[in-house]
Amino acid sequence: MNWLTLWEGISATEEDPLKQVGRVSREKKIDEAVLQFIVTDIRNKLRLTETDSVLDLCCGNGLLTSMIAPYCNKIKGIDFSETLIKTAKSRFSLPNTDYAVGDAYDLSGLRPEKYDKILLYFSFQYFDTFEKGKKVIREMLSVLAPGGMILLGDVPDYALYGNHYRTIPQKIRFHYENFTGKNRIGKFWKEKEMELIAADFNLTAERLTQPESLPYSHYRRDYLLKRIKD
Ligand SMILES: C[S@@+](CC[C@H](N)C(=O)[O-])C[C@H]1O[C@@H](n2cnc3c(N)ncnc32)[C@H](O)[C@@H]1O
Repeated sequence: MNWLTLWEGISATEEDPLKQVGRVSREKKIDEAVLQFIVTDIRNKLRLTETDSVLDLCCGNGLLTSMIAPYCNKIKGIDFSETLIKTAKSRFSLPNTDYAVGDAYDLSGLRPEKYDKILLYFSFQYFDTFEKGKKVIREMLSVLAPGGMILLGDVPDYALYGNHYRTIPQKIRFHYENFTGKNRIGKFWKEKEMELIAADFNLTAERLTQPESLPYSHYRRDYLLKRIKD
């Protein structure tokens, strides 16, 4: 699946900022209150403080970035879609936000800057093989400040795929799409895979549930990554 083509296509045809970043649940846009729940959950899990410098990787059109901005010192949003970054700059800029086009696989342009907290929300599924996931985590670690943490939020969870693909035909479709790499959702990550990546990079990887009020809590989990030693 070419994810850049997919996201450029969606952002070029959708005017609505929620739809531009796929914030639809069962074909309905999620509402403002749900977005606020998501922000609160991110703040709690990342223990955001007003002194934090934050990197929001795969920030999309900056909708969520701009809602997190009031709770930190500064936040930088990176996305590989030029159209989404253009929208972020024109519609979701605040005094402490900064947006730039960039590919999560190569954060060399950010170095030597370091971030206290790194967020990759609703996007880890696009790093759709074990090696690709590992590569993006390696890149994030290269710009993570000592004592910092990374939140991979809203990660489709392999053990929970049956909560999303409920019927037998849907389950067959899931396995077929998984096998052929055609799943539009992206990769459903296994806990074991995250454990292996964490062990390779000397990290702890805490698998966290989401409040039930979040739209995808039935089949997604979050991972909080921290270095064991800085
Ligand atoms: C579902 S949207 C999520 C946007 C935002 N994080 C949110 O939660 O609203 C996924 C985003 O990931 C971006 N993306 C996917 N792969 C990327 C990559 N390799 N580098 C940078 N951005 C990427 C897409 O362009 C898209 O904006």
